[in-house]
Amino acid sequence: TTGTIAPAHRVGPDYRPDAQKPTATVSTQISYDNVHILPQTSQLLALLTMIRDKNTARADFIFYSNRIIRLLVEEGLNHLPVIGHTITTPVGQSYAGVKFQGKICGVSIMRAGEAMEQGLRDCCRSVRIGKILIQRDEDTSKPKLFYEKLPEDISERWVLLLDPMFATGGSATMAVDVLKSKRVPEDRILFLNIIASPEGVTGFAKRFPRLRVVTAFVDQGLDEKNYIVPGLGDFGDRFYTL
Ligand code: PRP
Ligand code: URA
Repeated sequence: TTGTIAPAHRVGPDYRPDAQKPTATVSTQISYDNVHILPQTSQLLALLTMIRDKNTARADFIFYSNRIIRLLVEEGLNHLPVIGHTITTPVGQSYAGVKFQGKICGVSIMRAGEAMEQGLRDCCRSVRIGKILIQRDEDTSKPKLFYEKLPEDISERWVLLLDPMFATGGSATMAVDVLKSKRVPEDRILFLNIIASPEGVTGFAKRFPRLRVVTAFVDQGLDEKNYIVPGLGDFGDRFYTL
């Protein structure tokens, strides 16, 4: 097993003294500007605790994963540019605000990444979604590309790339190579992820310095089968079939 030392923090509301707060393992920090880790709030840590638990049944796994995915999508959207937009309110006053600029699309790495599509649709009505089917070989952990279907004008869009698990980084790297072959500029790709390994996300951030990663948690490492530890097991199995 490769790995980092898991950092532990006191968790709970500020008004409580530290001695009354439990200690929880929080995300490993990554020193790359293009890796954004969600704030390690008590809610996020509680949601992650639910989906990591091997005794969590499928219906709960789906429900709590969806809450984390919603947080990732909302944070990911904050990385898109906005332009100034002043409106008039019903009381006749003006408000200097902003509005989204540009076109976006989602791209899910099948099968597990498809679990993140609904969270994106909940925030971006009728968003276009492309698919890339990449499967990791169970023995070698090497990714294999089987299929891709992407919006025709993808090179003019911001791309939210979706995959909940980021282990060796092989699958995500292959997906980015597909996007780049379709002329999507690297700095218009945002990779949304639930749990990453430190080695996977560091290698990826170095290889694609202009692409941004938004993740909920960077874990300790990988085991001998290249599963993330402590991780949550096989996300696709737990979401779709277990
Ligand atoms: C899993 C996961 C990622 C990939 C991560 O998919 O959903 O796509 O492995 O591993 P990596 O970073 O080492 O490439 P898998 O190929 O098992 O297929 P699934 O989505 O159908 O479960
Ligand atoms: N894919 C998963 O679903 N989980 C892991 O830990 C690694 C790859």
